[in-house]
Amino acid sequence: MRSHYCGGISESNIDQEITLCGWVHKRRDHGGVIFLDLRDRDGVAQIVIDPDTPEAFKLAESVRSEFVLQIKGRVRRRPEGTENKDKATGFVEVLGTEIVILNSAATPPFPLDEYVDVGEEVRLRYRFMDLRRPEMLNKLRFRSKVTSYIRNFLDGQGFMDVETPILTRATPEGARDYLVPSRTHPGSFFALPQSPQLFKQLLMVSGVDRYYQVAKCFRDEDLRADRQPEFTQIDVECSFVDENTLMLIMEQMVREMFHDLLNIDFPVFPRMPYSEAMKRFGSDKPDLRIPLEFVDVDDLVADTEFKVFAGAANDPKGRVVALKVDGAAEKLSRKQIDDYTKFVGIYGAKGLAWIKVNNLEQGAEGLQSPIVKFLGGDVCLSIMSRLGAKNGDIVFFGADKATIVNEALGALRIKLGHDLDLFTCEWAPMWVVDFPMFEETSDGGLTAIHHPFTSPSCTPEELAANPSEALSIAYDMVLNGTELGGGSIRIHDPEMQKTVFRILGINDEEAQNKFGFLLDALKFGCPPHGGLAFGLDRLIMLMTGAKSIREVIAFPKTQSAMCVLTQAPGAVDEKQLKELHIRTRKSQSAD
Ligand code: AMO
Ligand code: AMP
Repeated sequence: MRSHYCGGISESNIDQEITLCGWVHKRRDHGGVIFLDLRDRDGVAQIVIDPDTPEAFKLAESVRSEFVLQIKGRVRRRPEGTENKDKATGFVEVLGTEIVILNSAATPPFPLDEYVDVGEEVRLRYRFMDLRRPEMLNKLRFRSKVTSYIRNFLDGQGFMDVETPILTRATPEGARDYLVPSRTHPGSFFALPQSPQLFKQLLMVSGVDRYYQVAKCFRDEDLRADRQPEFTQIDVECSFVDENTLMLIMEQMVREMFHDLLNIDFPVFPRMPYSEAMKRFGSDKPDLRIPLEFVDVDDLVADTEFKVFAGAANDPKGRVVALKVDGAAEKLSRKQIDDYTKFVGIYGAKGLAWIKVNNLEQGAEGLQSPIVKFLGGDVCLSIMSRLGAKNGDIVFFGADKATIVNEALGALRIKLGHDLDLFTCEWAPMWVVDFPMFEETSDGGLTAIHHPFTSPSCTPEELAANPSEALSIAYDMVLNGTELGGGSIRIHDPEMQKTVFRILGINDEEAQNKFGFLLDALKFGCPPHGGLAFGLDRLIMLMTGAKSIREVIAFPKTQSAMCVLTQAPGAVDEKQLKELHIRTRKSQSAD
């Protein structure tokens, strides 16, 4: 139907007869001449229709925004002074001679021809219109480029693309499962995969050796800007490799991709043990662009009168941390500090102590703070000396259970970085390594930090003797404070796998019941193997500078895990429920 894309015409087409198809982006009537901006996937072309072609002119007069047209015409140079130097098509226009209206269009729910901040709900309700906006379409195009780049890279490295099932059993990745009732097995359910984890391990047992998949994953968890209930992983697994080889291949892929697609050069990724990341930044995904660091001061405040600090310092699970912001004392008003106090409250902090360093030459007198009187001048000065504080600095403090301090001051560190624009560079990729195997749950039990198939770096006996101290051979790739991907070397020894299940409180019978197929597979010559999965949506979000992963997914769910476009999830009729052997509570009470 067309000879060129609207966005593809340039001075090289001058004097050619061409046919374009697209949507009316804008129509302007200019004293007897009609200008139509015709838009397609590749851009916008300016069409001029003059009254010399009365039929075309009449049609042009009748079209409105978003009508679908086919236009024939001749490309010509725009008159001098009317060029648009910002656009590739801006030096030429098409003198349209024939117009076919392929379809009309109702008035759009929001105008597309200029950026308008319509609410996200409306944009998602009319996503098919929202995606017509060039900035949205460009993100989809970029996403396609990235998946194709990654496929090429992995194909080149000998990885094999294998699909794994969507209707399956639960895969424990730490979220709730989406369940699918079985019609043929009354009362039984499939689970949608939280990841292809177990299948990719089975593929290693099968001898696939190097696997990858652009895989859909499903997790029923609380949503945030970087989480969706349905998302995509670049999922990778490899046999006969150690963690170093695997990390280097993945790092190479990300480095080459950023170079080739964005012209950004990364240095070799620093590797930081989990314990160091938590100590210095209170986070296992530190944003290294921000130069602020935690300094522990438990020992200095343990014997003071200030109960909040001394209590946390003497609690084995407590932590007292100082966070110094150079030269920010003057920049932060009382109101801002109060706002930060409220902000850390979101993360459970009961307060936010602070000291402004006005004049160190005056000793404790030169410190302005609500807590100097509780801590005592000498203690405050010792803290200042440990921090290397200078006049004009401000120091924030967190004292509580370490988990709360890490979360609250970790979040404050990021917020201060943004508010005071403290970024030292644009990109900070890194690896976090040496994660603990387990973390404590609120009821005192243990849960796997990655997943229960991750190999510890010790023997089964050592693991059983001291599980909470054991480290795993796991690694996360972090970029600008976002966890881009994570993986590990897996357990390939059935005894080790059983030991981990036992520590997690999964007895042999339950393990056999839930993961019998994996334990079986481990018995039949399972090679040493390991892998990793990237969150594709997060990767694209960072590469395009989007604010949320919803911006880079064609049809995302809302924050409340709904699809407002199709109104899913929705009710189903009684007959369907009956076939599935399901009775809802509502219909039960109606019986
Ligand atoms: P993990 O659970 O760390 O590991 O997931 C890997 C990556 O997937 C992305 N991700 C998400 N993206 C969007 N929305 C979500 N709800 C969401 N959850 C996770 C993150 C994360 O780093 N099977 C293991 C990988 C392995 O061990 O090989 C796994 O799924 O970017
Ligand atoms: P209070 O005695 O509770 O008024 O606290 C004195 C100062 O310590 C105030 O600035 C509080 O914000 C701060 N504060 C209270 N609890 C904590 C805490 N857990 N961590 C850090 N600062 C706190």
